[in-house]
Amino acid sequence: MDTSAAIEVSHLVVPALQATVDLLAITVFGDPAKDALFKELDRGLAGHLADVAMTESFEGKLGQVISFYAGGKLAAKRVLVVGGGVRSEFTNGHVRDVSATIAQFANKVGAASVGFVLPSFGGTREMTLVQMAVEGVHLGSYKFGRYLTAEDAKKPNRLKTFGVITDAKGKKPNAADGRGFLAAVTRGTVVAAAVNHARDLVNEPPAIVTPIALANDALAIAKKHKDTITTTILNPKQCAELGMGMFLAVGQGSDQESRFIHITYKPVKKPKKRICFIGKGVTFDSGGYSLKPSNAMEDMKVDMAGAAAVISAMDAIATLGSDYEVHAVAACCENLVSGKAYKLGDVLTSMDGTTVEINNTDAEGRLTLGDAITYARQKIQPDEMFDFATLTGACMVALGPYIAGVMSDNESLAKSWLATAERTGEDMWRLPLAPRLREQLKSPIADMRNTGDRFGGAITAGLFLKTFAKDTPWVHVDIAGPASLSTARPSQPKGGSGFAVASIVEYATRH
Ligand code: BES
Ligand code: MN
Ligand code: ZN
Repeated sequence: MDTSAAIEVSHLVVPALQATVDLLAITVFGDPAKDALFKELDRGLAGHLADVAMTESFEGKLGQVISFYAGGKLAAKRVLVVGGGVRSEFTNGHVRDVSATIAQFANKVGAASVGFVLPSFGGTREMTLVQMAVEGVHLGSYKFGRYLTAEDAKKPNRLKTFGVITDAKGKKPNAADGRGFLAAVTRGTVVAAAVNHARDLVNEPPAIVTPIALANDALAIAKKHKDTITTTILNPKQCAELGMGMFLAVGQGSDQESRFIHITYKPVKKPKKRICFIGKGVTFDSGGYSLKPSNAMEDMKVDMAGAAAVISAMDAIATLGSDYEVHAVAACCENLVSGKAYKLGDVLTSMDGTTVEINNTDAEGRLTLGDAITYARQKIQPDEMFDFATLTGACMVALGPYIAGVMSDNESLAKSWLATAERTGEDMWRLPLAPRLREQLKSPIADMRNTGDRFGGAITAGLFLKTFAKDTPWVHVDIAGPASLSTARPSQPKGGSGFAVASIVEYATRH
């Protein structure tokens, strides 16, 4: 369960050397001997810090750390120096890892108070860095410990207060900068809470996070934001009345009833535009009769990560406020085998009337999303729509486990989405929606079939979805890789990552 919320972040306006904290943390880019603040601290510590740097071969490389117990020589009890790597290559995403590293170190050594001297890059980037640093504190303190019964797994974070020092000399900020700082802290805290919530939803076992559980989560968020959010939940009968033949077929083999979730946020003022975020919500993907081998099925509780992202993001969007009317849609179901399950050779009729021959029941995500996209087009009529889906292993083959694939035939929307992801430090890369690959989706007996061949699998999935998106400006984000991680980094533990939440919130609230 997420325990990060208990940490309080504040603006620490004191000279770095006078911060009376348990842990004073600084970032050094490259050779520490060239860093003014490092040298100042080292003088205060009678040269011992440089000794430690020397013995431990600290070169200020990204992720390197050294620590020294000040023994009363400084106002701070202990010093932590974190390597930032090459200064010009330091991204917004990196500062999240730096502050996550600091928070984790503080927890490990039992430091209740931290002072972190934020590296300065000047200009408009500063407040983004404050936000990212705050996100890092909370993201780095995330643990999913609900099912661990050992006593020390249940201990709360020992870190209590995290002070950000924006000026090492302790210069007081002017009123506007002070307000900017507070706003950045709020954004960072709210975004991280939503990311951590999405992580919880992904990390919980599939017996807990069922389609109905996701619907209840959406209803709880609506209850929290009564003035701005309304939620509609459709059961299978209601979905049948709308003609969602593809979505319902995927869930029909499971004893868990499918649920279609639609969350609406309406701003107080007249909205500037209407946007819709759609998430894949397959709460467990066995593959159906095109059954996955056991090792490929093991992590398939992750298959609702898109739904987790769009639902969680709505909470943050309502808290921060948006000038847009924002919708979140998730067609949630479980893909299993049983006497009722859909079969290879079945022909399904989608909500927009398109008929689809099933040649692989494991290509189920695009079926659920196709009807969700049609619902969005017909019932919401958004100016822009985005979908987030753990859709294809092929996308991981193309881009590796950390980068999401972005597909769109709308140049300007694709660009503004990628610019958003760049700001939030979420790695995304565009793949072409090459029209020639559509040949692979031809069926002799229906309008199309649901699966192409092995080559270009991420793209044919995108092309399948495009059939339903039609001319509505749309971006497809395949998050099969980054939604769940098997190797950790400081701001992202193993397991559910909450990927895409930060970019969704950024897109919806930064006008
Ligand atoms: N949920 C999977 C994709 C996936 C794979 C997500 C690995 C996360 C990690 C999806 O439903 C699926 O099974 N896709 C198939 C498509 C194929 C049958 C065309 C795949 O990628 O093998
Ligand atoms: Mn599948
Ligand atoms: Zn799937």
